[in-house]
Amino acid sequence: MKHLRSLFDLSIDEFHDVLNLADSLKRNLSAGHRPDLLKNRSLALLFEKASLRTRVSFEAGMIQMGGAAIYLTNDVGWRERETIADFVRVLGEYCDFVVCRAISQSTVDELASHNVLPVINGLTDQSHPCQAMADVMTMREMCGGDLKGRQVTFVGDGNNVARSLLKSAAICGMKFRLVGPPKYHIDLSLVERVRKHYGELDFQQGTDIGSMVGDADFLYTDVWTSMGQEAEAKERAASFGPYQINSAMLKRAPEHCKVLHCLPARRGLEITDDVIDSDQSIVFPQAANRMHLQKGLLVWLGMQNGFVKSAEVS
Ligand code: CP
Ligand code: NVA
Repeated sequence: MKHLRSLFDLSIDEFHDVLNLADSLKRNLSAGHRPDLLKNRSLALLFEKASLRTRVSFEAGMIQMGGAAIYLTNDVGWRERETIADFVRVLGEYCDFVVCRAISQSTVDELASHNVLPVINGLTDQSHPCQAMADVMTMREMCGGDLKGRQVTFVGDGNNVARSLLKSAAICGMKFRLVGPPKYHIDLSLVERVRKHYGELDFQQGTDIGSMVGDADFLYTDVWTSMGQEAEAKERAASFGPYQINSAMLKRAPEHCKVLHCLPARRGLEITDDVIDSDQSIVFPQAANRMHLQKGLLVWLGMQNGFVKSAEVS
């Protein structure tokens, strides 16, 4: 069974197949067509953490394709009333997919290990693959297609979002830079795994803003304190202070450079109002693409798992 536990579940070709499908569903929608590709299909949303974009974009995407989504709250007794194995076995009797936003990557991996229904990672401590795919979709739109050789510079914490972006940069042949305090750099073992999985990756990380930002086609940031790290917020704010994307930092980047943020943003911390609301910001088209990308992903997983026919899609 095909899942999206992390981007490592996709080959380079499969990654691009999902993106191409998403592009075509987006074009369909703007032409007023909403094909019923997932008619009578249901998606369970199992979330251990808060969400606006991931939850609502999956729900709205299912509705647009003729299916429905079921958001599961604590009432289902997740992890309390029965084993994950029993839980997912029953869920698979009712639903066609499940999106899981989990505190730990191991939860998503365990859900998927039972191979009952396709499991989609809706963010974990380690990764955020749906976000990274929507980010690539957005960057591709800005560049008119090919991202090969372009540079994305992630400013701040080498967190779940940065780690998935690193993988998608490798997939697309982009240069990846991370600038931030060394304590929060990306673990080099991940870089090795990415190189092993996808081949080459032009990667650097450091603390020198000028050299990392000066050639960036895209600057990307995320919160300094992710969900679950609230106790470290003060220490993190002190460490990340010099790495705020503000107008002075943006001036050090080329004029064509665009700014991304996965949102939600802590305006005034990792990014300032004048940058996030500037003409160089593509933050809101980026958020919009979450839905288009995930529609493509759901249809693609439906095809891979044999319950959507490719003829219905073309
Ligand atoms: N970017 C993102 O995943 O947003 P949510 O936490 O609101 O889903
Ligand atoms: N790094 C953030 C991303 C939120 C979408 C977090 O994990 O809270």
